[in-house]
Amino acid sequence: MSERVEIFEMGPRDGLQNEKREIPVAEKVALVDCLSRAGFQRIEVASFVSPKWVPQMAGSADVLAGIARAEGVRYAALTPNMQGYEGAMGAKADEIAIFASASEGFSKANINATIEESIARFVPILEAARHIDMPVRGYVSCVTDCPFDGPTAPEKVAEVADRLFSLGCYEISLGDTIGHGTPDSIARMLLAVRERVPMTRIAGHYHDTAGRALENIDASLAMGVRVFDAAVGGLGGCPYAPGAAGNVATEAVAEHLERLGYQTGLDMAVVQEAAEMARAMRTE
Ligand code: HMG
Ligand code: MG
Repeated sequence: MSERVEIFEMGPRDGLQNEKREIPVAEKVALVDCLSRAGFQRIEVASFVSPKWVPQMAGSADVLAGIARAEGVRYAALTPNMQGYEGAMGAKADEIAIFASASEGFSKANINATIEESIARFVPILEAARHIDMPVRGYVSCVTDCPFDGPTAPEKVAEVADRLFSLGCYEISLGDTIGHGTPDSIARMLLAVRERVPMTRIAGHYHDTAGRALENIDASLAMGVRVFDAAVGGLGGCPYAPGAAGNVATEAVAEHLERLGYQTGLDMAVVQEAAEMARAMRTE
């Protein structure tokens, strides 16, 4: 039997957080409900951040309340601090994610904190989550390049990934936030990370700004990464990362993986249906 590679669907969160048009909750719910039929095990659907910082995610609790939860699917939410954690718990997210950066410039721009301050905010979240067996995922942004600080040292990525993993994150998602990574810089970064975190606990989160995300996925597959984040229709970007284009498109990653002989467990017809919905939601 062929080996399994999982795609963690990001469309409803990383995909839509950057859209200019205010997307009604009903449209987001329809997208998630479609994605729920596609065979994903994890879908990021919400973000409990300040609505002043990211207005597009303001209806996150309503999205979680409105979706038809499919069996075997975990619906995830971002939580930058305890206020976000309380919001996610109130809305019954199945798992949460904290998000740090490997570069100080992006950390400050995105969450108004130094890396150290952000980790101090995450400690009580991880403590509270541990008490109720709530899975917590950890993101590290700017793993090869930062829009403010330039290239990121692989050792810095390894250090932040290690901190989040040691604090109890079950998986660390490594973000090429602005899509400047190359197979070479991704491989060098992964070589440093794997000294500290097992590759079975690593995910690749690659934006496709320069059209290199699939090559970067190939480089990561060769290093043993078996989980990739992607967004249907190639939606997305981060409002605090200038120039960051969409996430790599789920349908492109799924087709690529299947061509390489991996199993994704996805129903491609449903993925294409969701991709069309996502593209129709997009502001050009
Ligand atoms: P701050 O202004 O320093 O926070 O922002 P504060 O604690 O001083 O609070 C300011 C106001 O925000 C207060 O309201 C708080 O109540 C409110 P006011 O009294 O002014 O009316 N507030 C909140 N409201 C709702 N939910 C909350 C919350 N926390 C405070 N959780 C903060 C700090 C972290 C809140 C802010 O910077 C923020 O929300 N940043 C989020 C930015 C963001 O969401 N970026 C995109 C996601 S990360 C990403 O896309 C990268 C990723 O995909 C990986 C990759 O690609 O690399 C994950
Ligand atoms: Mg992202």
